[in-house]
Amino acid sequence: MAGLFVRLLLLGANGMFGRDAAAVFAQAGFGVAGADLPEVDITSASGVAGFLDANPAQIVVNAAAYTNVDGAEDHREEAFRINAFGAEVVAHACRDRHLTLVHISTDYVFPGEREAGYVPLDPPGPPVNAYGASKLAGEEAIRAALPGDRLLICRTQWLYGRHGKNFVDTIRGLAASRASLHVVDDQWGVPTHTAELARQIARLLALGARGVAHTVGGGGPVTWCTFAREIVALAGLPCEVLPCSSEAFPRPAKRPRHAWLRSDVPADARPWRESLLAYLKEPGS
Ligand SMILES: NC(=O)c1ccc[n+]([C@@H]2O[C@H](COP(=O)([O-])OP(=O)(O)OC[C@H]3O[C@@H](n4cnc5c(N)ncnc54)[C@H](OP(=O)(O)O)[C@@H]3O)[C@@H](O)[C@H]2O)c1
Repeated sequence: MAGLFVRLLLLGANGMFGRDAAAVFAQAGFGVAGADLPEVDITSASGVAGFLDANPAQIVVNAAAYTNVDGAEDHREEAFRINAFGAEVVAHACRDRHLTLVHISTDYVFPGEREAGYVPLDPPGPPVNAYGASKLAGEEAIRAALPGDRLLICRTQWLYGRHGKNFVDTIRGLAASRASLHVVDDQWGVPTHTAELARQIARLLALGARGVAHTVGGGGPVTWCTFAREIVALAGLPCEVLPCSSEAFPRPAKRPRHAWLRSDVPADARPWRESLLAYLKEPGS
């Protein structure tokens, strides 16, 4: 960090990303303080203000979110309350204190109809599900609240890490007890490890980046089926992974098909296969 000691506050610190991110940010030289429910609720202006005032900092990273994609279809108001209104509350608190806000967002702000993927300058929307709509409303609220030089929106996708329920663990668990598995082969994205996302954010902050960044694993997009095959192969499991269509695996929330988050700057992203191999070797993952 060029010799400067920068303090960073992490909201959503107990989540899958937050728990790995705190360690990565500290290793990168930031002074880190974290908060999560129940002590700080991002939808409470006084709660957020109290935390920010008790912990003077230069940067706030908002990773707090309603993340149940299927649940958001039936709990749309709750998803918007946290992902849109909560994000706005955090943005206003940052604006009032002249802090920089890093906000974690998602590929689901895009409709996911473009095989070539999306770059940060592409206009988002319309999302195909309630979660995506709530996250897009959050992006819009913080853009309205903060000047461009105080804001970094980091969109990511297909996130996994050892502190949350995730696709890698699900496939590894199923493959350990089955001879074959069917996995969706018509949705594309880039697997992203939580620590890699945090590393990219720390790097962007060190470079003084602002605006919108696409922060995903390196190596280009794959389908869930290809990703599952790689998990099974790298874990050394004798399970056959067979392709199926999204229609064969209906979910309450529609998923974007082609929402590859591309970067428009040379990204120093670790190839997703390398991160996956490291994750599978991690004790306790
Ligand atoms: N997981 C993915 O595949 C993925 C993909 C793209 C983008 N993202 C984005 O990445 C970020 C981190 O996701 P994640 O996977 O780490 O999610 P997560 O594990 O669900 O973590 C989110 C954290 O926020 C907390 N939270 C919820 N409502 C809150 C509130 N009102 N005030 C304060 N904290 C609150 C949650 O607490 P409770 O658990 O108690 O609710 C949880 O600890 C989110 O912005 C998410 O939208 C995730």
